[in-house]
Amino acid sequence: MKLRIMTPSDIRQGYQLWKKAGLDVVSYKREKLEVKNVLKLNSSSCFVMEDKGNIIGTVLGAFNGRRAWIYHMAIHPDHQRKGNGWLLLQKTEEALKKLGATKILVGVLPTNKKALDFYQKRNFSIMDHALALQKDLWSK
Ligand SMILES: CC(C)(COP(=O)(O)OP(=O)(O)OC[C@H]1O[C@@H](n2cnc3c(N)ncnc32)[C@H](O)[C@@H]1OP(=O)(O)O)[C@@H](O)C(=O)NCCC(=O)NCCS
Repeated sequence: MKLRIMTPSDIRQGYQLWKKAGLDVVSYKREKLEVKNVLKLNSSSCFVMEDKGNIIGTVLGAFNGRRAWIYHMAIHPDHQRKGNGWLLLQKTEEALKKLGATKILVGVLPTNKKALDFYQKRNFSIMDHALALQKDLWSK
């Protein structure tokens, strides 16, 4: 198992993994554009985990100067529940802290019990005083 910084050339394989892990991804075109931007702006806090040359885990840690967000935390179903998610999360927390982040946020669907348990066991708490709102600026 190898943990390393994610690069744009990992996006294609990453996309297959995200779909396999059940992440709510958008089109490949949009993901590629967005993830490329995240990697450009966060060159020390986005990681992949490899097993025998295959990507089996990803995480994007994005710091905007005030808050840090985690996106695309995913472990291949064959490699889940073995501590791999924790390794990736720990590495990302360290990298974001080094950049100056003092709080990390992550969006999780209320039905995603696996992820809710995962993050809460790692001392993330559910925000009960705020809702996330969104506006879509994507045009094809
Ligand atoms: C969430 C996810 C990244 C966890 O990765 P993982 O490698 O399986 O997690 P770990 O093995 O490091 O597990 C750490 C802890 O998370 C919790 N957890 C992990 N999988 C779980 C499951 N299936 N059910 C309940 N809790 C779970 C447990 O508390 C576990 O600790 P334990 O094994 O000592 O009980 C992985 O399940 C995944 O990729 N899910 C699909 C994609 C996804 O939903 N990502 C999150 C988007 S916000």
